[in-house]
Amino acid sequence: MLPPQPSPVRFEHLPDGLGTGVASPRLTWTLPAGTGRQVAYELEVERRGGTRRTGRVDSAEQVLVPWPGDPLTSRERATVRVRVWTPDAAGPSEWSTPADVEAGLLDAADWQAVPVGADWDEDPEGERRPARVRKDFRLDRPVARARLYVTAHGLYEVEINGHRVGDDALAPGWTVYPHRLRYRTHDVTAHLTEGANTVGAWLGDGWYRGKYGFDGGTRNIYGTDQSLVAQLEVEYDDGTIQVVATDETWKAAPGPILTSGLYEGETFDARLHDPAWATPSAAGTEDWTPVRTGTRDPATLVAPVGPPVRCTEEVAPVTVTRTGDGRHLLDFGQNLVGRLRITVDGPAGTTLTLRHAEVLQDGELATRPLREATSVDTLILAGAGPFTWEPRFTLHGFRYAEITGWPGELTADQVTARVHHTDMRRTGWFECSDPLVNRLHENVVWSMRGNFVDLPTDCPQRDERLGWTGDIQVFAPTASFLYDCAGLLDSWLTDVGLEQLPDGTIPWYVPVIPGEPMWTPIHPGAAWGDVATLTPWTLFRRYGDRELLRRHYPMAKAWVDLVERLAGPSRLWDTGVQLGDWLDPAAPPDDPAAGRTDRYLVATAYFAHSARHLALAAAELGFDTDAEQYAALADEVADAFRRRYVLPSARLTSDSATAYAIALAFDLLTPEQRRPAADRLAEIVLADGARISTGFVGTPLICDALTDHGHLDVAYQLLLQTECPSWLYTVTMGATTIWERWDSLRPDGTLNPGGMTSFNHYALGAVADWLHRVVGGIGAAAPGSRRLSFRPRPGGGISWARVRHDTPYGTAALSWKLTASGMTADITVPEGCTATVELPGCAPLDLGPGDHVLDTAELRAAS
Ligand code: BGC
Repeated sequence: MLPPQPSPVRFEHLPDGLGTGVASPRLTWTLPAGTGRQVAYELEVERRGGTRRTGRVDSAEQVLVPWPGDPLTSRERATVRVRVWTPDAAGPSEWSTPADVEAGLLDAADWQAVPVGADWDEDPEGERRPARVRKDFRLDRPVARARLYVTAHGLYEVEINGHRVGDDALAPGWTVYPHRLRYRTHDVTAHLTEGANTVGAWLGDGWYRGKYGFDGGTRNIYGTDQSLVAQLEVEYDDGTIQVVATDETWKAAPGPILTSGLYEGETFDARLHDPAWATPSAAGTEDWTPVRTGTRDPATLVAPVGPPVRCTEEVAPVTVTRTGDGRHLLDFGQNLVGRLRITVDGPAGTTLTLRHAEVLQDGELATRPLREATSVDTLILAGAGPFTWEPRFTLHGFRYAEITGWPGELTADQVTARVHHTDMRRTGWFECSDPLVNRLHENVVWSMRGNFVDLPTDCPQRDERLGWTGDIQVFAPTASFLYDCAGLLDSWLTDVGLEQLPDGTIPWYVPVIPGEPMWTPIHPGAAWGDVATLTPWTLFRRYGDRELLRRHYPMAKAWVDLVERLAGPSRLWDTGVQLGDWLDPAAPPDDPAAGRTDRYLVATAYFAHSARHLALAAAELGFDTDAEQYAALADEVADAFRRRYVLPSARLTSDSATAYAIALAFDLLTPEQRRPAADRLAEIVLADGARISTGFVGTPLICDALTDHGHLDVAYQLLLQTECPSWLYTVTMGATTIWERWDSLRPDGTLNPGGMTSFNHYALGAVADWLHRVVGGIGAAAPGSRRLSFRPRPGGGISWARVRHDTPYGTAALSWKLTASGMTADITVPEGCTATVELPGCAPLDLGPGDHVLDTAELRAAS
C-alpha cells in the first residue's frame, strides 16, 4: 500500500500562485486522513530550464517548506508537485495534482508604465468627477498568453474589449502608498484578439485622494491625481512580447460616474454610459483628450500577499415596504457591508436615490451614527430598457436601505445586497446547544467580514473605517481562527512598521492620515501600540510562520524599547495619553476612556505582557541575548506592577473586573495573590448580576481569567447573561453583528446618544476565541497547531458543542455531548499533528492523527 496523494501545494499565504512577489515562495500541503506520519517528501519543480526534483528529503515538514532551487525571476512560471513517504508504506505516494505559480514583476526595472489620468483642471478641494482612461492598440498575431499588471492612484476597474478584468473590488486596497502600492497580476489572454483591441479603466478617488477620516475627512491624503498604472504584456507563440503600458498616448474623458467617494457613495448618470466604451468600436472617442502623466517610483509597487476584496455573497431583501410617499424601505435581515445591485426600468432622467443604515428608529433609517459618511448612491436612468447597476468605488455598512424614485412597484428580486470583504478562506466554525450563543458567534463572523476589507478596520459604516490598532490587537486570536487572514494581517503589519515613528511609537490607527487634527500628534498608547508585539505572535502561533515573526520583530522590539524608556527606572508606564479600558460601560458616553480601571494600571500590565511576548519571539528566532534581556524586563515590570497596584490584601488599587482580569490573564500576580484576586473578580462579576463591566481591554480577557482560576461557572454566567450590558443582550435586541457599545441600542430601543455608536465593531466579539477554546474545546498547543489541545469545559447548561478549525495541517474537529454518565467526544486530529485531550473528570491522554470517539465513563473505568 502506498500513502494517498497529498493536496496540491499552496504558495505562501496566497489563494493562488499567480503574480507572487516572493521569488522563493514557501510551500504548504496537507495529507488526507489515513496517510500516516510523513517522514520524507520530494518536490518537483517544472520550469523553463526543465524539470528538477529535490530527491527524497527526510523531513516531517509540510507547512511553509522552503522553495527548492533557484528563486523565480520576474514573470517566471513553474509547476510544483509533491509526494511523501510514510514509515510503513512500500513507496512514496502519488504526486500531488500540479499547482502553478507565476512571479509578478519582481524588479523595479520591469515597469514601463507610468501613472496616467485626466488632464483637465479640477478644484483640488472640491468635488471632482472621476475620469476614465483608454487606449486602442493592435496585435498582429494570435496571442499565446497575456498578463495585465495593474494598480492606480485611487481605485480602478479595468476592461479589455468590453470584458471586465478580474472580479476584485476596491483595488488596489489601502496601504501606506508612498512606500507600498499593490499591483495585481491578471491573466487576460482570453480577452484579447488578433487585430484591434482596447483597454480602458474606470477610476475612483478611494483612499488616495478621496475624503477620508473624522469630521468630514481629509482630502488628497496621498496626492491630487487620479491615475492608472497598467502594463499589458502580450506574449506570442515565438516568445516575443509586446507591451502596452500606460503612457502619454492614452486618452482620458469623464465617464458616467459623476461623483464617487468611499464614505459618500456614488452618482451614476446612465445617459452618459456607453457599454462599448472600452472596445475598438466605441463611439465618440475622438473627444477624449490626451492624459496627464505622473510619477510613481516603481520600486514601491508590490505584489499582494493575501487575497483581494470581492463580492462573496448576495443577500436578498427579507422585506420591501412601500411608504405612503412612494419610497421603498428594504430590510436585508442582516447587518452587512457591501452595496446594492439593482435592476430597474424607467423613463430617461428618472433619479433613484439609495440610502443606507444599520438600524431603524421610528421606522426610518437612523443615519446619525454614520456621522459624515453619508452613504448615498444615486442613479439617473437612460430610459433604454432594464438596467442593472451597482456602484463601483464605494462600500456601505447597512442592514436597511431606502430607495426613492423607483418607477412603479419594487419587488424583492430587483434588488440584492452584495456583501464585500477580503475573500479569505473560512477556517473556523462553532455551534452549541444554545441558539443565542450561536447567534452571538454568527454576529462575530459577520463583524469580521464587514471589517476585513483589505485591512482590519474598527467599523465599516461611519467616517472612520480605519485600521485601529487596539481593535485588531484584541480580535486577532478570534479572526485567525475563523478565517485565514495571515496575508491580510501580515500586509497590514508591514504598514504598521512603516508608520511606526522613529522613537518606536505605534500610531493609533494605520495607515495614518497625516495632519488629521483629532489624533495627531501621535502618542504611544497601551493596548493599541501593543499590536506590534502581540499580533505577530498570534499569527505565528496560528499559522506557524516564523518568517512573519522575524519580519515584524524590529517593530516589536522598537515598541518595547520605547515603553521601557517612557516608564524609566520605576518600570511603571504611568504617563501620557491612554485610552485605558476603552468603552467600559460605566464610562460616560462622551468620554469612553474614563472607565473604572486606572489607565496606567492597564498601561503597565500591557508593558509587562509585551516584554514577555518579545522575549518569547526572540527565543523562537534564536536571538538569545534579547530573549534573556526582555524576559528579565518582563519580570521587573510585573514586580513593579505588584508593588504599585496590588494591595497587601491582594486587592488591586482599581477594584474593577478589568483590573483583576488583566492581572490574572497576563500572569502578573504571585501564586499567593492569584486565588484571592480571582475570587474578588468573581465577586465583582456576581455583584453586578453577571452583567458586563469591562471595555475593550477587560472583555477579551475576563472569561479566561475566570476559567483558569476556578470560576468557570461565573464565566458562563457572564456569557449567558441577557440583561444590559452583556453579549447576549445585544442578541436579544436583534443584533446581527457585534456592536461597538454594549448599549449601542438601549433597552428602551433608542440609539445610544454617544458620538460613536457603531453596530459593527468586532472588538467586543473577541470572546469568540474563548468560545472556540473553552466551550468548544479546541486550542493550539504548538505553532501552526502542530500540537493541539482538546479541552472542552462545559457549563451554563450547554449540553453539546461542535467546533472545527482548518489548521495549516488540515481539519481539527471536536464535537462533544453531555450524557447521563459524563460526556462523549468525537475528535479529529489532522494528519501531521498530535494532540492532548483532557475531558472533564478524566486524566489527560495523547492522541495521534485520525478520528477518535471518546466516552468519559469508559475512560474513567479504564483508568
Ligand atoms: C474607534 C475605535 C478605536 C477608538 C480608539 C474609535 O473611534 O472606532 O474602535 O479603537 O476610537 O480611540
